[in-house]
Amino acid sequence: MRWQGLIQEYKRFLPINENTPFLTLNEGNTPLISLQNLSKKWGVDLHVKVEGANPTGSFKDRGMVMAVAKAVEDGSKSIICASTGNTSASAAAYAARAGLRCIIVIPNGKIALGKLAQAMMYGAEIFSIEGNFDEALRMVRKISEQEPITLVNSVNPYRLEGQKTAAFEICDQLGEAPEVLAIPVGNAGNISAYWKGFKEYAIKKGTTLPKMYGFEAEGAAAIVNNRVIENPETIATAIRIGNPASWPLASAAVEESNGLIDAVSDEEILQAYKWLAKDEGIFAEPASCASIAGIYKQIQKRSILPGTKIVAVLTGNGLKDPDIAINCSSIKPIYLPNDEKVVVNYIRGAVHH
Ligand code: F0G
Repeated sequence: MRWQGLIQEYKRFLPINENTPFLTLNEGNTPLISLQNLSKKWGVDLHVKVEGANPTGSFKDRGMVMAVAKAVEDGSKSIICASTGNTSASAAAYAARAGLRCIIVIPNGKIALGKLAQAMMYGAEIFSIEGNFDEALRMVRKISEQEPITLVNSVNPYRLEGQKTAAFEICDQLGEAPEVLAIPVGNAGNISAYWKGFKEYAIKKGTTLPKMYGFEAEGAAAIVNNRVIENPETIATAIRIGNPASWPLASAAVEESNGLIDAVSDEEILQAYKWLAKDEGIFAEPASCASIAGIYKQIQKRSILPGTKIVAVLTGNGLKDPDIAINCSSIKPIYLPNDEKVVVNYIRGAVHH
C-alpha cells in the first residue's frame, strides 16, 4: 500500500487520539543510502539517512506534521516559530495545508535562499530581525506565552515525537540499529528525538542502541565548549545557534549512549559537502554535512574503528542553499557563443583532452 505519512504509519508510537487530524504531506519514508565509495576509502560501513527527501526538503517535516496536527486538535488558529530557515519552511507548508496562519521570525541575511523562497511561497508572515536565532527564539517564546498562538519550535514536545520516527525507519531499513548514529547539532532537538526513538524501538522491537555522535559547527559549539556562544558564526547557517534549547536532553543522549559531541570547522564541513556530492552523488546542505565531517574526524582520532556500522543523518537538501554550492565549487560553466562549429569543436577538444 502507498505510504500514508507519519501520523498514519506510526500512530501506535505517537501521542495521537481520535481528535487528531490525519494531516500529511506524505513526509517520512526517506531513503537510507549506503555510501559505497566513502565506506571503502575510510574502511567503515557508512550509510546516510536522506532527510532532504522530505516534502519541504528537510527533517523538520517529521516534527512539524505532529506539531501542526496537535495545534489543529487544540483549536489553535495560528502558529509561530523562530528559525534558521528549515523550520520556517516546514511550518509554513503545514500551516498552509491545515489552514492556519503562520508567523516566522528569522535572522536577517542568515537564511539560505531556498528556505526563504519556500516560506514566501507557502504564505507565511515573515519577520526578519537584526538578531540571531537565539534572540529570535527568545522573542517567539515570549509571544506564545502571552498570545493565543502555538509555538512550533522544537521546545514543543510534539516536534520531537514526530522526529523520533526517523530512528524507527533506520532500524527497519538497516535491519538493525547502527553502532554509531552521527548527526548535526544546532538547537539540539533532533539528536534528542533520535535517542528517544532508538530507546522506544529497543523496548518495543528489541533493537540495540547506537552510540550518539553529535557534531556542532566550531563557531557555534556551545555544548562542546560548555558555554553559551553569544555571537555564533558558521557557513552552515542552519546550525548557527549559540544557546541550544534542548541542551540538557542532548547531553543526556550522549551520556546514556556512551557517545560524544564534537565540533567541526567550516572547512571540514565544506570538504565533506564536496565529497558527498562528487564521490556519492548526494547533495545535502552544508549543515547536514557536519555529520559526515564529524565521522571523518572521529575515524582519524580512532574513536570510530574500522568496520563500524554508521548511519549519518543528512538533515536537509543541498538545493536549499544554492549560493554556497556555486561559491564553493571549483567547476564553473564555460561560456560559448551560439555557434554550432565553435561548440562542437570545443567539446570535441575537451573529450579528447
Ligand atoms: N540540520 C539542518 C539542515 C537544520 O535545519 C537544523 C536545524 C539542524 C541540522 C540541527 O537540528 O536544531 O534539532 O539540533 N534547524 C533549525 C531551523 C534550527 O530553524 O530550521 P537541531
